[in-house]
Amino acid sequence: MKLKSIIIAAVGLFLTTGCNSQNKQVKQTNMGKSIVIFFSHAGDNYAVGNIKVGNTKIMADYISEITGADQYEIVTHKYDGMAYGPLTKLAQEEANKGELPPYEGKAPDLAKYDTVFIGGPVWWGTYPQVMFTLFKDINLDGKTVIPFTTHEGSGLASCVSDVKKAFPKANVTKGFAIYGHEVRTERAKVEKWLKELGISGT
Ligand SMILES: Cc1cc2nc3c(=O)[nH]c(=O)nc-3n(C[C@H](O)[C@H](O)[C@H](O)COP(=O)(O)O)c2cc1C
Repeated sequence: MKLKSIIIAAVGLFLTTGCNSQNKQVKQTNMGKSIVIFFSHAGDNYAVGNIKVGNTKIMADYISEITGADQYEIVTHKYDGMAYGPLTKLAQEEANKGELPPYEGKAPDLAKYDTVFIGGPVWWGTYPQVMFTLFKDINLDGKTVIPFTTHEGSGLASCVSDVKKAFPKANVTKGFAIYGHEVRTERAKVEKWLKELGISGT
């Protein structure tokens, strides 16, 4: 009888351990619970032509694959189907006027997150204005914020300082920039950056 109980307990323990190791598909990192908040424009773009998936979206997916971070995509349909030329004009007007175009849906609930990646393309030297609309609706006090950009020459531009301005009580790190036209072939650069940040989830 006693032996039977021990065997049942041992089988139970084995099954539990087996299940747990499968659950380790959920990535273990040293940055607490994390999320990638990003905006990305699919369609006609500089250097890459007419793309079905935006450059920053690909970056966001790499980060989530590598670290297990959740995602929140800032969505607007304002620029759908626009050619690159008219889009740059419209974006410049928005930036000059400090317009805050609305985004679709609700702002994310960020209470459970310790680390927030923020990423977008550089549009006229900073993030697209719709990202600033969202920034007004979220609170990142006390969180670690990791900005990144995809761009075609401006690097981080003023994105990091603009994030610092929007979230003065967050711990904003130095940020990472990658050329938009490199994103599809340079996943290794993203892995290296995350490793340098000390994020060990792989
Ligand atoms: C409206 C607009 C403005 C842009 N302005 C800049 C800029 O100021 N500096 C820069 O390096 N790239 C600029 N770019 C290029 C984008 O930053 C780059 O293509 C980026 O990877 C696009 O990311 P996405 O596909 O996620 O939207 C601009 C692109 C657009 C469409």
